[in-house]
Amino acid sequence: MLYNPPSPLETKVLTRRFGLPNSAAVDTYLATDGYKAFKKALEMKPDAIIEEVKVSNLRGRGGAGFPAGMKWSFVPRNSPKPKYIVVNADESEPGTCKDRLLMENDPHQLIEGMLIAGLAVDAHAGYIYVRGEYRYLIEILDKAIAEAYDKGYLGKNLQGSNFSFDAYTHSGAGAYECGEESALLESLEGKRGIPRIRPPFPAVVGAFQCPTILNNVETYCAVPPILRDGGAAFAALGVPKAGGTKLTCLTGHVNKPGVYELPLGFPVDRMINEVGGGIRGGKKLKAFIPGGSSCPVLTAAECEGLTMDYDAMAKKKTMLGSGGVVIMDEDTCMVKVALRIMRFYAHESCGWCIPCREGTTWIRKILTRFHDGMGRKDDINLLGDLAKNMLGRTFCPLGDAAALPTISIVEKFREEFEAHLDGKPCPYEKELVTA
Ligand SMILES: Cc1cc2nc3c(=O)[nH]c(=O)nc-3n(C[C@H](O)[C@H](O)[C@H](O)COP(=O)(O)O)c2cc1C
Repeated sequence: MLYNPPSPLETKVLTRRFGLPNSAAVDTYLATDGYKAFKKALEMKPDAIIEEVKVSNLRGRGGAGFPAGMKWSFVPRNSPKPKYIVVNADESEPGTCKDRLLMENDPHQLIEGMLIAGLAVDAHAGYIYVRGEYRYLIEILDKAIAEAYDKGYLGKNLQGSNFSFDAYTHSGAGAYECGEESALLESLEGKRGIPRIRPPFPAVVGAFQCPTILNNVETYCAVPPILRDGGAAFAALGVPKAGGTKLTCLTGHVNKPGVYELPLGFPVDRMINEVGGGIRGGKKLKAFIPGGSSCPVLTAAECEGLTMDYDAMAKKKTMLGSGGVVIMDEDTCMVKVALRIMRFYAHESCGWCIPCREGTTWIRKILTRFHDGMGRKDDINLLGDLAKNMLGRTFCPLGDAAALPTISIVEKFREEFEAHLDGKPCPYEKELVTA
């Protein structure tokens, strides 16, 4: 199984079965406390389950960090419609590669999380929407689902109770936009993956126009440990307003890149130097992306004393996001970084909203010009203006996700754009990128 060696600094809660022989098999899961939390939840009232999740301070791990227990409590109890559980396994944010490991190494933990969510809101069916490029995971998930049916953890009257639940996998087709919750629901329903107007939010009008809980893979995987060991124990692992651990995808110029499970509030310098083995070649840090390419970029100075948690990142005007950390050393060309990021967003914009479709394309063109040594002085301000005009003007946050890193790079690394003016070659590297 694809997994980097663990670090002694990790707190292994969600990843504790990683590395066990046949870690994905139901027998391994049952032998290591698997489905105990579900059995406990079967004896609990729905409100008590939701309360336990609230006590845990679990915040959504897909990017926005919304409190999971609160989201679950928005599902209307008295609705006569069926309710659904949807797993966001689209994992397309550049820098993020953790959900695949959870599904590959411990798929039953995800199924158990879905079951507990089903009990909490009286849902009897769940869909795992899997990123198109992760086709190999569908086989692993389908096998786990078949095992769960076999052992009475999926199907009718589970473990002798009157609770029934069915689970299905659904393959995406490789569109980043389909990770956005409302576009995901459109796609799940067989339609073109474009965002819906909100409100109403999915908790009230979600899959097939019915109340739906939609969470990220890691969010659901945190639920069995929360129910098993108690919400307070999970909360105590993290910081006051965000409980538990976060799977951190440490990528870029570190000696030991990998996915590490660290308690929320872990210091950034220890993460880079002790967990990640320091920056390659003993070089200095230039820039830091804390949670995937949608997050504003921080400078090395801004990382001093910084910890990996939602509120600490918000104070620096960035986001913990989905845990996709990108480390950039002193030899990185920030114009090239901005271009790489914008090539992705221009390609992935679904085209539904004009500011996003046109804004990403024009920013990509201007950045390409800069990178090729043909930038114009006015372009530096134009980049910022174009990005700011996308903010808040689209149906979904893809426009913001493209604009925010651009604005931060232009503002914080302006001298690097100036260094590319007047046909000067890039002072950091020679390779030309054409987009
Ligand atoms: C363009 C875009 C792409 C997204 N991609 C993902 C994704 O791949 N996985 C994910 O869990 N959330 C993704 N999100 C966030 C989801 O819309 C949603 O907030 C999340 O799945 C909710 O789950 P959580 O509360 O457990 O984090 C994306 C959002 C946007 C705007």
